[in-house]
Amino acid sequence: MSKITVIGSISTDFVVTADKRPEVGETITGKEFNTTFGGKGANQAVASARLGGDVYMAGTVGTDIFATELLANLSTNNIHVDYVEPVTHVPSGSAHITIVDGDNSIVYIPGANNAIDTKRIERLSELIKTSTIVVVQNELPQEVVDQIIEMCYESNVKVVYNPAPARKVNQSVLEKATYLTPNESEFKLLFPELTISEGLAKYPNQLIITMGSKGVYYHDGTSEKQISSYTVTPVDTTGAGDTFNGAFAVALTAGLDLESSIRFGNLAASLSIKKFGAQGGMPTLAEMKESEQYEKTWNIK
Ligand code: RIB
Ligand code: NA
Repeated sequence: MSKITVIGSISTDFVVTADKRPEVGETITGKEFNTTFGGKGANQAVASARLGGDVYMAGTVGTDIFATELLANLSTNNIHVDYVEPVTHVPSGSAHITIVDGDNSIVYIPGANNAIDTKRIERLSELIKTSTIVVVQNELPQEVVDQIIEMCYESNVKVVYNPAPARKVNQSVLEKATYLTPNESEFKLLFPELTISEGLAKYPNQLIITMGSKGVYYHDGTSEKQISSYTVTPVDTTGAGDTFNGAFAVALTAGLDLESSIRFGNLAASLSIKKFGAQGGMPTLAEMKESEQYEKTWNIK
């Protein structure tokens, strides 16, 4: 059976909803406060597992009360958690999110997520080698991300690298990722010398740029392609990119071609923003199939 390994952050999201963002020195009264499950890594793992992927999560959590909940949530979502290691003396990862009109701004505190180091990744070598696909993002130290991509490259294992949140990354690492999935601003930071069209043409069938309501862009070797997004009124766009990546990985492991895999990820992401919370709206495979936009050619079981 194909195996999806997600190596990444596992965090609690502390989410406030308000009519506006406060100015410096200003206090405003918001509308709501919720704690939800997040972390880009965990989100991507949950997105994959809801869609039927056999998902192994690797990462680090603290030994606080949050860690217990974070692990329980992964298990509830049918994710293998044997490779999630608890670390002492550091709080579990957290993200502090403000939502205004469905759009978010985030302060991420890595905490235990930053305790993952090159030695721990060495111990994942067998897991990585036996994976059908590995998914990694930027909420871990960059040296660890580099090492994971290098290991996948050496072992000929496909790797989806979602370079979020944005930061500078060595060109050689970017080129070793099987698929690179930045959003528009991450793309601009990674490739300041290239326009979007130049970037897509330079990395055909590899660079996939997610552009929110503008859809997803890639180059198929012959021409630039745009996969339009669906019109939905967003309740909460947090985790939409994560949903895309998790769903994309499921479609690839199910043997769909690149275009279909992108379309599948795109639909999952559109559905996810209709509900509150990064993981709240992530669709199950059954929910995907109920959608009018589900394509019959996506033969995923
Ligand atoms: O991509 C969204 C996620 O990033 C949130 O769940 C939050 O944890 C943030 O860091
Ligand atoms: Na959502």
